[in-house]
Amino acid sequence: MVSAVLSLAMIKHRLSTCNKLRTQQNIAKKQKSPTKYEDDITLSKEVPSQQCFFHTFSDAAEIKDFRKRLLTWYNKCKRDLPWRKMATSETDADRRAYAVWVSEIMLQQTQVASVISYYNRWMQKWPTLQELAKASLEEVNELWSGLGYYSRGKRLQEGARKVVSQMAGHMPRTAEELQKLLPGVGKYTAGAVASIAFGQVTGVVDGNVIRVLCRARAIGADPTSSAVADRLWALANSLVDPTHPGDFNQAMMELGATVCTPKTPLCTECPVKQHCRAYHRVEKDLVLSGERLLGKAASKYSHLPDVEECATTTGSCSFCLPTSEPWDPSLGVANFPRKVTKKKPRIEHTATCVLQRRSIGGEPEYLIVQRPSSGLLAGLWEFPSLLLEPGQEKQLKSALAGHLQTWVGSDVAVRRLQHVGEVLHVFSHIRKTYVIYFLNLNKEEENCDKEVELPASRWVTKTEFQSSAISTAMKKILKAYEAWSSKTSSDKVVKRKRDTLHASHSKPEEASVCKRQLSLDSFLATNPKN
Ligand code: ADE
Repeated sequence: MVSAVLSLAMIKHRLSTCNKLRTQQNIAKKQKSPTKYEDDITLSKEVPSQQCFFHTFSDAAEIKDFRKRLLTWYNKCKRDLPWRKMATSETDADRRAYAVWVSEIMLQQTQVASVISYYNRWMQKWPTLQELAKASLEEVNELWSGLGYYSRGKRLQEGARKVVSQMAGHMPRTAEELQKLLPGVGKYTAGAVASIAFGQVTGVVDGNVIRVLCRARAIGADPTSSAVADRLWALANSLVDPTHPGDFNQAMMELGATVCTPKTPLCTECPVKQHCRAYHRVEKDLVLSGERLLGKAASKYSHLPDVEECATTTGSCSFCLPTSEPWDPSLGVANFPRKVTKKKPRIEHTATCVLQRRSIGGEPEYLIVQRPSSGLLAGLWEFPSLLLEPGQEKQLKSALAGHLQTWVGSDVAVRRLQHVGEVLHVFSHIRKTYVIYFLNLNKEEENCDKEVELPASRWVTKTEFQSSAISTAMKKILKAYEAWSSKTSSDKVVKRKRDTLHASHSKPEEASVCKRQLSLDSFLATNPKN
């Protein structure tokens, strides 16, 4: 009984909210002309006039309220991020733009939490364009190691060199120029740098903004299609706040990252839920199902023309959810944006070998080899690795042994390769399984044949390995090797203890065989930890 009363109260409240919203929208519909705005509202970029009201922001009062709510929320709730400090405290425009540029490049396809430490290290090492211009690609790759998409660092450094050598150290001042002149700077990055560092009134659209806009305007069509992408840019440009464009753009991204999240959005905390068509749809569903629950067959709702729907009468609106995939109540606002089926990543297998030797001081050293200067993980270092042809997986051990001869003077006996395990690493377009082997090398086995053109290679200690320009996959492989190695040696200790115990209960001559000491060489060859 109590719950029925509560539900009734809730539904009444929701109905009154929905009615208020409906009234607001009817007013908005009457003032539909997209070119009329109040004095303090500036439509930052022109919006095409032929637009369906449902999928655009064309009401001046609504735009004003959206901006105000979003900026108020952002000022209160924004995360304290190092590049945001730089963007507000740095008075030199070129330094400021450089600091924002670095952050925006690092943030492409990478979560804020992963970027922070890389950003701080980068800005400490190269606080200005001039310092970055002097750095080597090797240094850039070393600092970028583990962040992924390595061409980003390379392009940043090329861009810095260009600004220093061809533009007297002055960053281009507009989004158009930034995109035209700097390598690796696309429409998004150009808009972000221009608005955040120079206050240019221009919108931005990244993955987070796509989600916010698609939900706010119930855009259910494929956001990667050019028509929808154009619509999203037009929406971003029509919404961006003319007095605080940088903050507004960051607020949109922040909202997408922290509130309007892909799977479990926090709609009740959303500062702009009043302007969200997806949210209204969820509210309406709730009211309707509540009414059904209470047996209210002919509700107020069912009589009224539904203003919360696209007015396109032909049923062929190119921005709505496709008729083949209609609204799914169980998904709520996550009906938008529409999921795009990604191309399946290709499957690859790579055989890789942790090749180890002892330094003169006895410390283990590992061989790393440099990858070619173009293609996947260009210029990075890795354990000697061999990409397997399809079907070659069965002979991978012998193929790897053959490949290792490049670095090992003599033939590598296949049986000396010890299987460590496998590591899966998913690149954007490849699912790669690394099949890991271990080989302990004797001093005299290294290849000294200077006639052969070898890829660059070097022996490194574990510490040197960790500060080298290596990929995340190689870091995972070293970890897998270390886990295997410590398990193997503890297994050996257990076995040795068991054998000793067994030997002490055996006849004297058997015991003496078990306890016989190994030569140092054979000990090193059989025990990977030593
Ligand atoms: N993602 C990319 N750039 C961002 C920024 N400046 N703030 C928040 N999220 C972002």
